[in-house]
Amino acid sequence: MRKILVIHGPNLNLLGSRETSVYGTTTLDEINQKLTRLAKERGVELSFLQSNHEGDIVDAIGRSAKDGFTAIVINPAAYTHTSVAIRDAVAAVAVPAIEVHLSNIYKREEFRHQSLIAPAAAGQVSGFGVQSYLLGLEAAIGLVNGQ
Ligand code: DQA
Repeated sequence: MRKILVIHGPNLNLLGSRETSVYGTTTLDEINQKLTRLAKERGVELSFLQSNHEGDIVDAIGRSAKDGFTAIVINPAAYTHTSVAIRDAVAAVAVPAIEVHLSNIYKREEFRHQSLIAPAAAGQVSGFGVQSYLLGLEAAIGLVNGQ
């Protein structure tokens, strides 16, 4: 079965209570459950990583091909706007990455308007809340199935 890696960046462990007017009240566990349900319907297997540490995320992306993943769905969270290391990791591996954001980063503060990851990603979904993750997963599945 094809394996897809889902990476949640810093502070996303706090979803459910974190800035609920921006991010909603769905917890990270609930997001992962919804993703797992969709993955089952589509016949793919998911692994999840949440980390507040840039290096852990860089390591997971760097290992992704060796670990047997065919695509990555990543919400780099605040590292979206700061991390050359995560962008370089995404660019370094042959595994395509779909960047997702709960909020529409282009509608928010100016410092969020730039994604350092986007030029290395296969594509980006931003602004649809939990649906961003589900759309990102659909896109990843489409990519690995060659659609
Ligand atoms: C986010 C947007 C980022 O700007 C922010 O730092 C996050 C979450 C989102 O999902 O909307 O932590 O990636």
